[in-house]
Amino acid sequence: MKRSDEILIKTPAQLAGCRAAGEKAAEVLRILCEAVRPGMSTKALDDFALEAMRSLGCSSADFGYYGYPAQTCISVNEAVIHGVPREDVVIHDGDLVSIDITVSYGGFVGDNARTVVVGEGAPEARAFVERTEEALRAGIAAARPGNRVGDISHAVEVVANRYRYGIVREYVGHGCGVSMHEAPEIPNYGPSGRGPLLREGMVICIEPMLTMGSRRIRVLDDGWTVVTADGSLACHTEQMLAITKAGPEILTPR
Ligand code: MF3
Ligand code: CO
Ligand code: CO
Repeated sequence: MKRSDEILIKTPAQLAGCRAAGEKAAEVLRILCEAVRPGMSTKALDDFALEAMRSLGCSSADFGYYGYPAQTCISVNEAVIHGVPREDVVIHDGDLVSIDITVSYGGFVGDNARTVVVGEGAPEARAFVERTEEALRAGIAAARPGNRVGDISHAVEVVANRYRYGIVREYVGHGCGVSMHEAPEIPNYGPSGRGPLLREGMVICIEPMLTMGSRRIRVLDDGWTVVTADGSLACHTEQMLAITKAGPEILTPR
């Protein structure tokens, strides 16, 4: 996706706007994670998201973005990200469902995602979700002024490698807030100590995209849905945060 190349330092007023949009995105994500049930189609979940956004007074930032045809991205099992909700994709007990919610509110954008295991699920699936969260937390812990983007990337990579998961490389985290995708790009792999310097007032999304098999991906004929090339399970989680003196401030609290 195209990003403006300048890294924005948000003013306190802009940070307040990002915080408000982040809270809306987090609330919609919570509502959807609680609504997921076996037998539901991903389209039914998307419809439910539209309702939730309406009642919260925000709107989807996804809809119409480069022609994106839905309100949310819902990616099941081997789907990694950008899953286009469909009537004929039905959720089953034990599925891994990644729900990615991006909203516009008050002129700002909030973006967050989470993968849930439907029902009890397999122990490997539950561990996969927990370890992907661990990778995200490691990345967040590195998001401090004076560090570099590569410190975040490397922290995520170390955790993913520890568990021998594949790391998707074609898609990355990003600056966010005034628009959905801003500079800098935040890869989930790479050397520490490199890349743009993190400064107070930056707002970024960190979003590990891991696989239980090969890191290779392909895009379905719908032009959006990214799936693992080998059909292995994928997991995706995302938080939006501000870089502050006191450390990372999560703008999309779980
Ligand atoms: N929420 C996604 C991200 O984390 C982007 C959504 S792509 C869209 O960057 F096409 F659905 F808008
Ligand atoms: Co997202
Ligand atoms: Co994002």
